[in-house]
Amino acid sequence: MTPSDVKATLSFSDGSPSMELPIYRGSIGPDVIDIRKLYAQTGKFTYDPGFLSTASCNSTITYIDGDKGELLYRGYPIEQLAQHCDFLEVCHLLIYGELPNAEQRAKFVKTITYHTMVNEQMQFFLRGFRRDAHPMAVMTGLVGALSAFYHDSTDVHNAQHREIAAHRLIAKMPTLVAMAYKYGVGQPFIYPKNSLSYSANFMRMMFATPCEDYEPNEVLVRAIDRIFILHADHEQNASTSTVRLCGSSGTNPFAAIAAGVACLWGPAHGGANEACLTMLEDIQKMGGVEKIGEFVRQVKDKNSSVRLMGFGHRVYKNYDPRAKLMRETCHEVLGALGLQNDPLFKLAMALEKIALEDDYFVSRKLYPNVDYYSGIVQRAIGIPVSLFTAVFALARTVGWIAQLNEMIGDAEYKIGRPRQLFVGSTRRDVKPISLR
Ligand code: CMC
Repeated sequence: MTPSDVKATLSFSDGSPSMELPIYRGSIGPDVIDIRKLYAQTGKFTYDPGFLSTASCNSTITYIDGDKGELLYRGYPIEQLAQHCDFLEVCHLLIYGELPNAEQRAKFVKTITYHTMVNEQMQFFLRGFRRDAHPMAVMTGLVGALSAFYHDSTDVHNAQHREIAAHRLIAKMPTLVAMAYKYGVGQPFIYPKNSLSYSANFMRMMFATPCEDYEPNEVLVRAIDRIFILHADHEQNASTSTVRLCGSSGTNPFAAIAAGVACLWGPAHGGANEACLTMLEDIQKMGGVEKIGEFVRQVKDKNSSVRLMGFGHRVYKNYDPRAKLMRETCHEVLGALGLQNDPLFKLAMALEKIALEDDYFVSRKLYPNVDYYSGIVQRAIGIPVSLFTAVFALARTVGWIAQLNEMIGDAEYKIGRPRQLFVGSTRRDVKPISLR
């Protein structure tokens, strides 16, 4: 970390001695004030629930400028990566820090391709779930269970174990998501096919049956690949911070990633794509475009808990660059499928336009995020709504594992252990039950 010449001074109005705090400079983005010695020197903690002003680590992976609406993976703008690279190249970039050259790419693709099968026993484990279980419940279990199947890559302090675990996780997630889907619809599992690309293979495992092979449509394969790229990493969001915190105890990589899957499920995070599509379907049932005004009134009503799903972001206070790319992909996919007049897409665009002109959203800097259009794309491809977040988890796995590796390799890393402001009862004595 680069120390700044500037220092912060913390002073107290009760006459306690003031404290000088070092400041570190990032290569871009806000500086940070180092408060690590604060408690030892002052006996006080900082208070920041929700981490509104707290950098929990230093990182070289992803940078977001929320005011500009900019997202960089290892310095490269997301727009360029989405246009010029495929998902596995982006995985290489996130894990190893650089885009691969042709030779590195071929090697990496081969490694991932030859790790896509899962231990055959996994399917018997999967069969223990109810068929109507939510795919994210199944995925949380399956990913956690990987640590029971791959003992030779569970030592998080061994760099080689971590690399093998990374390859396994990236390679096996599509297989597991497709298995979770097939199990839910009662169809036989489809094994991976090594001649296909990562994304085409996923589509085939999802949509082929033993009776009929699946011819991947290039536009749809490119769309799903783009969904993967756009969701691959996003700095220290809730699920990534969960993976880091979980992994900080020294647990194995599969267990840490399973924790990330569980966190991602929530509707304020990865579950928003499912919630957004459900919202659009509900407005459509109410009467479609004509009912947008009524819906927006509900969202703005302080007494209602209705939110415009797929809108708003803790970091972006401008248009999420991923939402722009996703809207473009939406046009391409619906065009390729002859669904240009898809009523939900029209509804989504009309709702977006109204919200972007409404003072409620403007004053709060609420813009569409990546999940606003991704559900429409996935639905058009044939992915069921309940599987949307599992597709997000598949894509985010590479980000989680890159961040976990970065943390373990950081000489300053310690087990994560936040403190608290205690506001409960002070010490008291237990009374006999007859006197309580
Ligand atoms: N609809 C209506 N009002 C909203 C929305 C929304 N989607 N998002 C924020 N607000 C309002 C909120 O009520 C608050 O208003 P006020 O100042 O009057 O109390 C203000 O905007 C600030 O909101 P906040 O909840 O304090 O902001 P946050 O940074 O804690 O929350 C968020 C960020 C993403 C959880 C929130 O915007 C939200 O719930 N959005 C809908 C869910 C969603 O689309 N999530 C996906 C995020 S992107 C993908 C990912 O990261 O997984």
